[in-house]
Amino acid sequence: MSHICISGLCKEYVERRRKVCFRDTSGVRTVQQILADINLEFEDGEMVCILGPSGCGKSTLLKIVAGFTPSTAGKVLIDGKPVNGPSQDHIFVYQHSALLPWMTVQQNVGLGLRNIKAENKRNDRIQEYIDMVELTGFEDRYPCELSGGMQRRAELARALAVNPKTLFMDEPFTGLDFLTHMRMREEVVMMHLYTGKSVIFVTHDIDDALVMGDRIVILSGRPATVQLNRRLAHPHPRKLTKDPELLELRREVFFMLGVPDAV
Ligand SMILES: Nc1ncnc2c1ncn2[C@@H]1O[C@H](COP(=O)(O)OP(=O)(O)O)[C@@H](O)[C@H]1O
Ligand SMILES: [Mg+2]
Repeated sequence: MSHICISGLCKEYVERRRKVCFRDTSGVRTVQQILADINLEFEDGEMVCILGPSGCGKSTLLKIVAGFTPSTAGKVLIDGKPVNGPSQDHIFVYQHSALLPWMTVQQNVGLGLRNIKAENKRNDRIQEYIDMVELTGFEDRYPCELSGGMQRRAELARALAVNPKTLFMDEPFTGLDFLTHMRMREEVVMMHLYTGKSVIFVTHDIDDALVMGDRIVILSGRPATVQLNRRLAHPHPRKLTKDPELLELRREVFFMLGVPDAV
């Protein structure tokens, strides 16, 4: 049975704008169709990378599957149960840093662990994940005292510490410099191999998707439909330049996203 099953998913946003004429207060109601009939199935433990043009509805799709936004039509089942709202089993890692600036790394990572009453047990768990993302020694630092990459790792530790079944990551490498981006990519792959967690990873970076994904999904422009849904069984670590099959797929993806001359 699939872990996540998305069927006939549609999303519309209704916008109400006041007309410019001040005598007319009726306003204009426009319906923006974002997602049109999305059907996808993801296996337990898969790392799924979702690509698509900017504004096509990637974040919207992720928010619906994570239970933060309702869909207009269709359904999402996780482990056979309909998604009705956010859950401790599904953790969202955002595009921009969501660490609380007045809390240290230790306190931030421990945010989701307040249900563990025994302090030493809670601290051990926090330390385990701080060590895992190699932030040992930075426990008492505040987010502003960390580099961008360290902040992302602290966020990853916070997300993993609550032991979610699925991680939803929405362009988590945004704003990182090139080398940090490459390192974080490796770390997320290692985390995935090590923990076996399901990850739904939204990115605009084609190479991220090809290097990281067990499955790659491409959405079309708005209203978004699924243009490509392909399983990648290539072992890690993947060397894009040395794998002719991945290079060919890379060309195909650039073509699908409307930039064939970029390769
Ligand atoms: N809460 C909202 N209300 C109205 N429109 C929205 C809302 N959230 C997103 N949108 C619109 O939906 C479209 C898709 O947004 P989004 O899912 O963020 O795209 P992507 O992540 O692919 O860049 C955009 O045109 C955006 O303006
Ligand atoms: Mg987005």
